[in-house]
Amino acid sequence: MTSQPTNCPRGELRSSALDESFLGLEPAHAEMHVGRTAGRGTARFEIVRREDFSEVTYLLEIFHPRMAKAARPGQFVIVMEHERGERIPLTLADFDPERGTVTLVVQAVGKTTREMQARCLVGSSLHALVGPMGNPSGIGDARKVVCVGGGLGVAPVYPQARAYKDSGAYVIGVIGFRSRELMFWEDRFRSVCDEFIVCTDDGSEGIKGVVTAGIEQALAQHSDIDEVVAIGPPIMMKFCAETTRPHGVRTVVSVNPVMVDGTGMCGGCRVKVGDQMRFACVDGPDFDAHAVDFDDLMARLRRFAASEGAALARWQESCYVAAGG
Ligand code: FAD
Ligand code: FES
Ligand code: MG
Repeated sequence: MTSQPTNCPRGELRSSALDESFLGLEPAHAEMHVGRTAGRGTARFEIVRREDFSEVTYLLEIFHPRMAKAARPGQFVIVMEHERGERIPLTLADFDPERGTVTLVVQAVGKTTREMQARCLVGSSLHALVGPMGNPSGIGDARKVVCVGGGLGVAPVYPQARAYKDSGAYVIGVIGFRSRELMFWEDRFRSVCDEFIVCTDDGSEGIKGVVTAGIEQALAQHSDIDEVVAIGPPIMMKFCAETTRPHGVRTVVSVNPVMVDGTGMCGGCRVKVGDQMRFACVDGPDFDAHAVDFDDLMARLRRFAASEGAALARWQESCYVAAGG
């Protein structure tokens, strides 16, 4: 399914409250991080492929040979689509040193991700792309692993499933979507799994139910699972943790708090893990699911809802005006 990009302006747009006051960023800061800007506004991180999975989910493949070589499963990047834009973290859903590209899968949920949806077309470029950031996932010596992706989480968990497969582990994939029409990367994921379980909320494909039903099935059929890796919305990861807790199976999640600099400087990404406060960007983003305080994570993610809503409304209004409305 292909979404229709809108013809929205960018340079002259006001960014969100997060862009300008909370983040306190000037474009020059991003240039410092990137360190290879030929000139303000010069486009370099070219988008070489785009695929739209649904009205709100899209894939961007970006030419960046050095990052493609350096990237490891579990790492993320910070993106600025244009020089007055917000910095947002996105997980590296794939990286291909031979093609010299990295791949992001994005869900359009607010001003910046919708603006990117409208503007990030093949041949265009991102203003800044910083990374790879965060600690690579610990692909250890687990022999049997369940890799769980809920909705968009299918993309970031895929490189981990592939790495486990490459390490010789037996990989059980569990993916969950609201319905079959929203599914993506099923074949790609399946190709790195020894067993594959699909769950849909409406039962249009696989098991009718959420991913915890798939985890239950895997746990019932295999008494020797060493590890479960789960990535998706915080509420999903919370219930995955509660599903595996009684079985005592090590469970790892990739948390997604609000991030600003991504380098341990701002404290925006604090997450309660056990009795410690950790910074997801430098201490994570992977943590022991049984120790993460998901309720705190979810409350923190809602903190800026009012300014995020206002930023989206301002941007939509500017699109309407630009379109002659
Ligand atoms: P807004 O309306 O500004 O925000 C919508 C919601 O997104 C907020 O309520 C908040 O919960 C969250 N959010 C807002 N700003 C940030 C921020 N700076 N950092 C983190 N969360 C924020 N999304 C993807 O679509 N694909 C990914 O691969 C992906 N990977 C991520 C990896 C990490 C390590 C983290 C921390 C987040 C990741 N996200 C990913 C979430 C993505 O960063 C947010 O959806 C995006 O920043 C929302 O921006 P917005 O302006 O469109 O929406
Ligand atoms: Fe600033 Fe982690 S994003 S400390
Ligand atoms: Mg935003």
